[in-house]
Formats: sequence, structure tokens, C-alpha cells
Amino acid sequence: MYIIDDVRNSFICGDALQEMKNFPDESFDLAVTSPPYNLKNSTGNGMKNGTGGKWAGAALVNGYATYDDNMPYDKYCEWQRECLAEMMRLIKPDGAIFYNHKWRVQGGLIQDRREIISGFPVRQIIIWKRKGGINFNPGYFLPTYEVIYMIAKPGFKLADKANRLGDVWEFPQEMKNKHPAPFPVALIERIISSTNAKIILDPFMGSGTTAVAAKNLGRDFVGIEISSEYCEMSKERLALCQTSENIQSQQLSLL
Ligand SMILES: C[S@@+](CC[C@H](N)C(=O)[O-])C[C@H]1O[C@@H](n2cnc3c(N)ncnc32)[C@H](O)[C@@H]1O
Repeated sequence: MYIIDDVRNSFICGDALQEMKNFPDESFDLAVTSPPYNLKNSTGNGMKNGTGGKWAGAALVNGYATYDDNMPYDKYCEWQRECLAEMMRLIKPDGAIFYNHKWRVQGGLIQDRREIISGFPVRQIIIWKRKGGINFNPGYFLPTYEVIYMIAKPGFKLADKANRLGDVWEFPQEMKNKHPAPFPVALIERIISSTNAKIILDPFMGSGTTAVAAKNLGRDFVGIEISSEYCEMSKERLALCQTSENIQSQQLSLL
């Protein structure tokens, strides 16, 4: 079992579900995460056979460094439900999970991921409106948003005045990041600063965006990520942001 102070503000390179089981109940105030979307297990977008098809230029065509993102859909949903159940165990009675996912059209019908979130206490769905994109399918409009499920325990309250924000948030996707599917830092800063969370878990940490946002806001984090390449990326990113923070504070102290 981890002792939280031993892993505070660090990245654990391992499997999300297994590693979460190593934490005691109610270790975190908040979980913020974006799991793999199972994109390669998809009808008709070219991702499936790895060629990319019409999406040949998309960063995710090659999948993640050590995970192929291609499970049978029922297994994928079962896995994600287990991950959510662990996150529920790990947040405090006034905690919440911000779970980012993407709806998509499969076989001509909307797949709105209800198989994953059904039965969890979803209090609100925030729409993250992204910029641009291309739609090659003449059967539906260009999808321009992802969803963030706010799954809240009964005692969860937003930070003072955060309830004035609407539930449609517009942030362009992150372009300057070698990870194929990063969050924009500003999106995660919006989530974290809308809460009073002191310590935040991201079990699918990717390139460390949740860590960077937490640090920028003076909060603590723990990140879990299966790829050692992305763990290194996260460490380097966090070190860079702490270095620029030091430079800024040194400059301020010279004024
Ligand atoms: C959508 S990305 C997260 C990106 C992240 N939000 C960021 O800003 O960089 C999902 C991540 O989950 C990781 N992953 C896949 N399977 C995993 C597992 N079993 N345990 C932990 N991480 C996993 C992938 O390597 C990928 O980096």
C-alpha cells in the first residue's frame, strides 16, 4: 500500500487499475483523467487496420507508445467501469471525478458511452468545444466537442463563484506536444481551479498535463501512466515548468 506522502507529486509508471488498488480509500480530493478512447476498435475510420485511411495524418494512427487502444467494446467498457469504481473509492466524500471522453458514430448510430458511466453519480456533463477537424462522412455533421462527465460524491461543492461558469467550455486542442492525445493545460486548469482540491489523481497521465496544471495552481498530484516514454515526458515537462517558475520568481525578487 502506498503512503501518500511517499508518492505526492510523482509519476508512477504502471497499470492504472493495478496501481490505484495500492492506495488507501479516500486518498484524493479529485480525479481528473482522459482514458484511451478505444479508437482503434472503430467502424470505418481507417484507424482499425493501422493505415489511417482518410485519417492518415492523425497523430493517433500509430496508437500510444505501449498500448494499442483496440479492445472488444464490451471488454473496454468493463475495464473503464472498474477504473471508475476505483477512482470512486479513492476520492473523499466531498470529492469528484472529471472524466473526459468522446462520443462517436459507430455503424451509423451515436455511441454516447452510457455503457461506461451508467450507475455512477454523474451530476453534470461539461461540453469541451474543440476547434476545427474534418468530417469525411456525409451522414452526419462534423463533431466538434468532447464531453467531461462530472461524477460527484454527495458532499462535492465547487470553489467559490465557480458555479457562475457555464457548462460549455471552449479551448483549442493542444498542438505543441509530442503525445498523440494531450489535454490543453488551460482546460485542466479550469477544472482544478473550479474546485478546492488539494491533491489530484490522474490514472491515465499521458504527457503530464494534469501535473503541470496542478503545479501551476499550487496543488499536489499523483500521476499513473503505463508508458515509460510518456512518464519521462511528464517528468521533463514538469521540470521545465518548475524551472520557468523559478526564473520568474528570481526575476520578481530582483525587481
Ligand atoms: C488520452 S491519453 C491521456 C493524455 C493526457 N491527458 C495528456 O494530457 O497527455 C491516455 C493515456 O493512457 C495511457 N494508458 C493506456 N493504458 C493504460 C493503463 N492500463 N494504465 C495506465 N495508463 C494507460 C496511454 O499510454 C495514454 O498516454
